[in-house]
This record gives sequence, C-alpha cells and structure tokens, in this order.
Amino acid sequence: MVSVENERQASCGTVRLAHLSDIHVSAPRLGWQRADWFNKRLAAWFNFRCLGRRFRFRHGEEVLGILVEDLRTRGIDHVIFSGDATALGFEEELRRAVEELRVGDVAGGLAVPGNHDYCTVPAAASGIFERYFAPWQRGERIDGAIYPFAQKVGHAWLVAVNSCTGNRWAWDAGGSVGREQLARLERLLAELTPGPRILVTHYPVCLANGKPERRTHGLRDLDDVVRIAAAGGVKLWLHGHRHGPYCIDKPTLAPFPVVCAGSATQTGCWSYSEYTLDGNAIAILRRTFDPESRSFQDVAETRLMM
Ligand SMILES: [Fe+2]
Ligand SMILES: [Fe+2]
Repeated sequence: MVSVENERQASCGTVRLAHLSDIHVSAPRLGWQRADWFNKRLAAWFNFRCLGRRFRFRHGEEVLGILVEDLRTRGIDHVIFSGDATALGFEEELRRAVEELRVGDVAGGLAVPGNHDYCTVPAAASGIFERYFAPWQRGERIDGAIYPFAQKVGHAWLVAVNSCTGNRWAWDAGGSVGREQLARLERLLAELTPGPRILVTHYPVCLANGKPERRTHGLRDLDDVVRIAAAGGVKLWLHGHRHGPYCIDKPTLAPFPVVCAGSATQTGCWSYSEYTLDGNAIAILRRTFDPESRSFQDVAETRLMM
C-alpha cells in the first residue's frame, strides 16, 4: 500500500493520502466481563444488537477487504485512520480491525481512537488501542506523551490529536482533548519545521450543515482546540465520527476547511477520501463503494488551497 519514500515525495512535490474512518469492526467472541453489564458498554451493545448498528455494518468485513485492496492500486503514500475501529471497544474487536486494515504491513499510517474504541473508562485507560495501532502512532512528540504526535509526509505535517475520553454515562458520546494535551499541541505546532499542518482527530468541528454537534455527541472543548490549531498554523482538519462524508471549505466554526471521511464500511455510506497535496493546493477525491461492481469508484472531487 505504501510504496514511496519521503525523499521521492519531497522531490516531486506531491503527496497522496488516503483517509478512512469508522469501520466499527466486531467479533464473534467479545470477552465480556461482569463490570461491563454496569457500564456504558451495555448501552452500546443494545445499540449495536437491537437498534440496527450491526445490520448497518453487515457488509463491513467484505467492503473493508475490498477497500484495503483498492488502496494497494492507488499509489497511496500514507494512510490516515480517524477512529471508531470497533463497535464496543473490546480487545478482540481491535485485534480483528488491525488485521483487516493490515496495520502491521503498512509502514506509513496514522491512527487516532474514536469514542467507540474508548467505550468505557477502563477501555480508555488500558491503552489497548495504542498497543494495537502502535505502527500507525510513530512520530514527533512532546515530553514522551502519546498524544498529540506529528508525522512528516513529504512536505506536510500530519498532527494526530486524541479527542476521545472514556465516558461513564450511556447518553454521553462526547469527547474532549483536555488542557494538558492542548498545551502539548500548542508546543508541538510551534516546534515543527515549516510545511502545511493537517490536524487529524475523531470529532468534527461541525455537522454537514455547518452547525455545531450537540454537546453529548461532540467535542466539549472544541473552541479551545480550534483556537490553538489556528494559531499553530493548521490549514485543514480531518475527522470521522459522523458516518456520512462531507467537506466544508469555509466553516463558520473554524478558519480552515474540514473534511469528514464518513464511515468506510456502513452500508450506503461506505466511502473514503483520497487527498493529493501539491504545495499548498489539495485535491480531495471522494471514493464510494459501488455494490454492483463490488469496487470503489470516484464520486466527487473538491480542490482547495490550504
Ligand atoms: Fe462511528
Ligand atoms: Fe464516533
């Protein structure tokens, strides 16, 4: 999938990125423990089994296999995954997700967790997402902390921010970056060498209609993250969490464009984004799964300046 060295990218001036998200892989044996029946996992399971999420992802494994093969043919330099690898944040789900994404075989990758990966407070604290996605979490850091981290791809910097927290209550699907990570983000952005900065996180700046997410489904400290990102030279915000893809050139809530990859594998949404960076210009190509041909096809292209 990753076929090109950084030197070649820098010399020819273009970089090709693939951005996928929200694959929500599950597993036949999940490893329930007694405590899981008294925390947020029970509500997530009810949503998954009884409210249609499992049905919406019934073709997920097949579509993800086709997507991974598709990426091999596209000359992609680097893969970005913006979270929700799993349905319920179980270790067995993570194991399957990284296998299906072939994380171990792909040297050029970046991954951040989604709220489903941090389904419970213990799941978030366990570090299992970071352990399984370790090959896609290499990069420049501040004081050895896991987040944020930055990867140089060609002339651009990809900056990974963890926006998820383990939540206690069933109705709370919100996240936050937190003051300590924000302070590190400010320092990291200041210390990186010149080049366009692209922030990657799970939560969006806004919905597809430009309006803010509701508090229990969005980023609680959004204003602070946007302020620090903008001051640090971020020119583009990539995210998941919303399962329908969209791109907003001039959102009212941030001074840079935002792109939601949407879910790569949910029936009917199943799409990913491909970015071609050339200096400060970026071409954003949306590719969507076509059930008839069993393949991903180009559906829309947007060109922006970063
Ligand atoms: Fe999701
Ligand atoms: Fe999410």
